[in-house]
Amino acid sequence: RTAKFKELLLKEFHRVLMGDSKVFTSGLDVHNTYDVKYDSNNPKKSSREEVMCALKSVQLRAITADDEPFSRLGFKIPRAPLQEQRHFNTCAVVTSAGALLGSDLGEFIDSHDMVLRFNNAPTENYTESVGSKTTFRVLNSQVVAKPEFNFLEDPLYRNVSILIWDPANYTSTLEDWYHHPDYPLFPVYKKLLDRYKNADVHLLNPQVLWGLWSVLQDTSPYRLRRNPPSSGFIGLWFALHRCERVRMFEYVPSARATRRCHYHAPAHDAACTLGAWHPLAHEKTLAERLRDNKDVQVFQQGIIDVPGFRTITC
Ligand code: C5P
Repeated sequence: RTAKFKELLLKEFHRVLMGDSKVFTSGLDVHNTYDVKYDSNNPKKSSREEVMCALKSVQLRAITADDEPFSRLGFKIPRAPLQEQRHFNTCAVVTSAGALLGSDLGEFIDSHDMVLRFNNAPTENYTESVGSKTTFRVLNSQVVAKPEFNFLEDPLYRNVSILIWDPANYTSTLEDWYHHPDYPLFPVYKKLLDRYKNADVHLLNPQVLWGLWSVLQDTSPYRLRRNPPSSGFIGLWFALHRCERVRMFEYVPSARATRRCHYHAPAHDAACTLGAWHPLAHEKTLAERLRDNKDVQVFQQGIIDVPGFRTITC
């Protein structure tokens, strides 16, 4: 059963990626929103070691208090970013996939030294499925900028370390980005820093997104959408920098897979799991190649287990 499911799933990823790729080769793809430049002569990376080393070489860079224009504009960005570079033994990265609902994985997730969650995914009322501990959140800029998320007030975003991402154009400077973010996150971020003096909340340097995208493209036989990776992939890469071992939940879909988008909301949309805007199908294909646990755990329980970057020498 596991082998059959694995085969079907990988075929499905393949189908999605081929579909995307056709759009490129047919010349229909005229969208390059972020003006991404990619040299198709880049050497392809295929072995697990090559992929891990390529991902490791994308450095964890957050905006600092000295970066312009943030320094000039008085953003009180904390000096010691993101829990002062703490390193953890075991880490759980919990996607928001609908398939987590009813998984009973909560207790296991909470047994990890660090737990990373995404966007507005709650734990309250879902602890049996996803646990209750949160160490980090990775947020896209919509959560910060759109009033319905109530970022400045909601307790979901307090007493937790937060990494926020928003894409800039491929060649943009920070100054350009500041004037043209995807969503207007900067005034809200400034307010937050003024209001909560000890907030451990940081902005990911947007160049990191294109570094990660390039690794994705260098490891794919297909041409990918020229959009940033999903929060999930950013979270996985972040955790690999900080943890000896990373367990990620329902990123590579298990036999519990469902059309339900999020465990915390009833809406159905298969694109949440397979990708519509992000190069998600390839992110997941790659993550599946990096894991070193048994098929049955991946495809029945929905867990991939990946050794952290510190455990490899490049
Ligand atoms: O939808 P949202 O971005 O808030 O979800 C957080 C992350 O969880 C996504 O970026 C994606 O990587 C992952 N996810 C998934 N399958 C789903 C929903 C979310 O892999 N059905």
